[in-house]
Amino acid sequence: MSNPALLVLYGSQTGTAQDTAQRLARQAQRRRLRVRVMPLDDYNVANLITESLVVFVCSTTGQGDPPDNMKNFWRFLFKKSLPAGSLSQLDCAILGLGDSSYPKFNFVAKKLHKRLLQLGACVLLPVGLGLLRCQLFTRLCPEEVQLRIPMDQTVPSQSHPFPARMVFNRRVTEPSHFQDVRHIELDVTGSNIEFAAGDVVMMRPCNAPEDVQQFCQLLKLDPETRFTLSPTDNTAVPARLPQPCTVRHLVESYLDIAAVPRRSFFELLSTFATNELEQEKLAEFSSAAGQDELHNYCNRPRRTMLEVLADFPHTTAELKVDYLLDLFPEIQPRSFSIASSLRAHPNRIQVLVAVVCYKTKLYKPRKGLCSSWLASLDPAQGDVYVPLWVKKGSLKFPSDKETPVIMVGPGTGVAPFRSVLQERTAEGRTANVLFFGCRSKSKDFYFRTEWEEMMEAGFLTLFTAFSRDQVRNTLLIIVFVQEAKVYVQHRVRDNGELLWDLIANKNACFYIAGNAKQMPASVCDALKEAFQQAGGVSAEEAEQMLATMEKTGRFQSETWS
Ligand code: 2AM
Repeated sequence: MSNPALLVLYGSQTGTAQDTAQRLARQAQRRRLRVRVMPLDDYNVANLITESLVVFVCSTTGQGDPPDNMKNFWRFLFKKSLPAGSLSQLDCAILGLGDSSYPKFNFVAKKLHKRLLQLGACVLLPVGLGLLRCQLFTRLCPEEVQLRIPMDQTVPSQSHPFPARMVFNRRVTEPSHFQDVRHIELDVTGSNIEFAAGDVVMMRPCNAPEDVQQFCQLLKLDPETRFTLSPTDNTAVPARLPQPCTVRHLVESYLDIAAVPRRSFFELLSTFATNELEQEKLAEFSSAAGQDELHNYCNRPRRTMLEVLADFPHTTAELKVDYLLDLFPEIQPRSFSIASSLRAHPNRIQVLVAVVCYKTKLYKPRKGLCSSWLASLDPAQGDVYVPLWVKKGSLKFPSDKETPVIMVGPGTGVAPFRSVLQERTAEGRTANVLFFGCRSKSKDFYFRTEWEEMMEAGFLTLFTAFSRDQVRNTLLIIVFVQEAKVYVQHRVRDNGELLWDLIANKNACFYIAGNAKQMPASVCDALKEAFQQAGGVSAEEAEQMLATMEKTGRFQSETWS
């Protein structure tokens, strides 16, 4: 594992933070980290999205104000238009300096910490004072860590993912079922990874070999060519790329060529065009007037960058390796709810992954990059490793023994609930209710035998909703009569008495997980109906009850699209 490149940015009024930042940088250099250090306002903030490791050192002045040489940075960082996950690639630490006799002691560092979290950055350490330095180096320099603590105590993170061996990769839907869903197990022995039910595992996918090959052909690049990256004004050298790097490695594991391009992609591409027709079209897609056309060409059919390149072969052949990092975004890590518990499966992480595949007007079906990549890995053909790290999830489960949990998880939404059920079963907690929904009892009823065993052992009350099983197409001369679908929300509504008793009398927690769309809202409506019917409360009281449950953490949901 190579040491990462560190950027130290400081905001200093009287020079103390500057001095601290420079000392920190010198210490990092001695530990063989590649380091840059500069005042925050000398740094092009927009580049933060390309950094992997930054330490912010800043003091607080006046009434909780930032120092003068970070004021522009401050204004930029708090722009409302910055999207929530825009810094999700970033690992960082914050060192605050200030006088603890002031009421707004370390205000800037604390506010910066909050904002970086909002933007999705991973903050490696609590906002620190003196202690930060040695803790930071413990995290960043694995060789040093080896000297003092066993290697297995390092913490896998975005900049130090753990290469987990894939143990199995099983399709859990019937072969005839429209959707391929995988139950995957990964071996994390030696990683010292720990997680709780509700946490997520992060994985960064690779492009398919055939896409890498096509890309290289279109750009007339030899995949085995080695090159060395050097930073430019706009682009820093990504810490996770080896130096020198092969074209194959760059394209396979770094460039998101399967993403749907934005307007800026066409703007940049048009600067390489020499063919008149292509130039004209690219200019149109780059212009304000061409945005409807661009939407129809790219966004609506989900056309990928690679497919766009194939449509502009002359321009693509002009592209040089030097511009690839400017043209293509970095492949982003994806998160999956962990579907197992360490008690039931020590040293393992299991996930339940629906392989994304759908049709648009384009001939080739659209495929999800990460789920298709995972599905393509076959441990039976030899060892395969998936670099991963874990993050806290949003679902939190009660720690006391008595509180019952009610979980609604149709489809792959059941994943985090399997983790908590394994945990609670091991602890001997029996008050567990699960509402599971899928299309058919025989085709996509995930973990059926496990649920049945838990029910038999008295650990689970299960309600199922098979949406397509009761759809009997009854031929009445020429009319098809379809019975209505049954969804989890119908089961929730029909079991009002039980739910009311658990929630109103036994302080139960209620959870929803799964594919967004209408499901969570419909389940909430069903729950409120259940409150009214079984508890005899009014619509307003039911609404209020749910709102209070949400505020106190007794109602939680995690949804994805
Ligand atoms: P369907 O595909 O037959 O519509 C897991 O995907 C299960 O969730 C399937 O049975 C699916 O049913 C169901 N589902 C789809 N939309 C839903 C919704 N709005 N509310 C609840 N369940 C839904």
